[in-house]
Amino acid sequence: MVVEKISFADKLREEGSVVVGVYADASLSKSATAIDEKFNGIISRNLKKMSISGKLFESTHFVAADCPISHFVLIGLGDVGKKFTEFELEKLGAKIYDCVAELEVDVTVAVGAEDIDSASCCSSSFLGFGLLLKSWSFDKYKPSKSKKIKLRNACFITSNAQKSGERFLELQKLADGIFLTRQVVSEPANVIYPKSLAKIAKDELSPLGVEVETLDRSSMQELGMNALLGVAQGSSFDPQLVILHWNGGSKSENPIVFVGKGVTFDSGGISLKPGDGMHEMRQDMAGSGTVLGLLKAVAANKLPVNVIGLMALVENMPSGTAQRPGDIVKSMSGQTIEILNTDAEGRLVLADALWYAQDKFSPQVMIDLATLTGAMIVALGHEFAGLFSNSDVLAHQITKSSEKTGEKVWRMPLTEHFDKGINSEVADMQNIAKPNIRGGSITAAQFLKRFVNDVDWAHLDIAGVDSTSDDLFICAKGATGFGVHLLYDFLQENYTKKTKSV
Ligand code: BES
Ligand code: MN
Ligand code: ZN
Repeated sequence: MVVEKISFADKLREEGSVVVGVYADASLSKSATAIDEKFNGIISRNLKKMSISGKLFESTHFVAADCPISHFVLIGLGDVGKKFTEFELEKLGAKIYDCVAELEVDVTVAVGAEDIDSASCCSSSFLGFGLLLKSWSFDKYKPSKSKKIKLRNACFITSNAQKSGERFLELQKLADGIFLTRQVVSEPANVIYPKSLAKIAKDELSPLGVEVETLDRSSMQELGMNALLGVAQGSSFDPQLVILHWNGGSKSENPIVFVGKGVTFDSGGISLKPGDGMHEMRQDMAGSGTVLGLLKAVAANKLPVNVIGLMALVENMPSGTAQRPGDIVKSMSGQTIEILNTDAEGRLVLADALWYAQDKFSPQVMIDLATLTGAMIVALGHEFAGLFSNSDVLAHQITKSSEKTGEKVWRMPLTEHFDKGINSEVADMQNIAKPNIRGGSITAAQFLKRFVNDVDWAHLDIAGVDSTSDDLFICAKGATGFGVHLLYDFLQENYTKKTKSV
């Protein structure tokens, strides 16, 4: 369930529920003051009786008798003159959603450009974006879950309504991409498996002008992708490598390539995971889910850049045909890998997908996303994704977008010490590090690095951030869609704003 309509107007609808802003010194915002004056001081009178300091995100509401506006919701805007970043505006929009979702079908938000100081051209569009993002929930199999939610339409009142409306069109499409990611990550593994996810990719993206190509098991066999295929061999679901082509840039321009780990269920294989929490491994395709949502946002907004998305889709299951610990496979790169633990499967899948991506597309930049290691959660909790990169420039660009969008990343090291830990006695490498080398997320990243040549590359280990067990500011419990906004911003900031030389 998600809010149906978000609109922008310059004139207040004087009925129903209205949200107004209060600053930290308990003064009313400009719009709130105008409404207050019009309705004989109804807000200021009630404000005195209530406990709200106007601190940022604080809220309260009152029912208004004898007033065409039936409900007033007061939201704290913080200190007078506070400059809001886009992300803070999103958070404020999300907070407004929390306050009004159960109140009424139509809600008017009288907090606009005149009430908020921001470097953004159209602050209301970001309030709307935040509200929209917070309104999404996965209730397909239990519609009663959202029974209490009434809100369907939110109208934002602002002096620059038209501009905000135009800006919002892009953000709404970005939100659609984020929602697609959240949806496929939330779905169980009997619904999302390699072929079904490949079909969703085709159905969702082809109409937007994305060329969707799929390699099946035999094509991958021909290419020698035995690392990826080894993971898939225990499952009755066929693996798929989905390649999404968005040709928004000039023909001569090499693409930016995104590669997503897409393990639609990770049981661990023969190195079976313990039962507790195993169900969460339906989300082990979140990397691919992010690539899918990102491409949707990029194509829907027609970003003028060439982007390729790879979704490396397999299921990791134990069975009579499953890969065994001790098996040795030859990857597409020619390098051999000793499998010491079938649960370290993500790196095997990515090894071939990364090699294929750089071999086939000569990317300007290659970025992979993967729920790769539990150790990432030990290191950075659910607060940051781990960022590994062979390029300081790329790491900096991603970090900048991270700071802007609020999708947090923390750079992690890549060094020879950890690389040595994966040398094998019998093959070029082994898929888990020697026991004396700790830092499991780093050794996993070093493993991936062996499949990356001369290309600027970044790896995002999103194991801790792809879903949340707590209600977050702009995301309810469940799949977050982490990475779509981050990488959309990364593309926009670094690849669509080039000044053309004459
Ligand atoms: N998909 C898991 C990593 C993971 C764990 C993601 C928990 C999210 C939450 C990955 O395939 C895995 O099983 N990694 C192992 C690696 C180990 C065997 C070296 C791990 O982290 O335990
Ligand atoms: Mn695993
Ligand atoms: Zn996994």
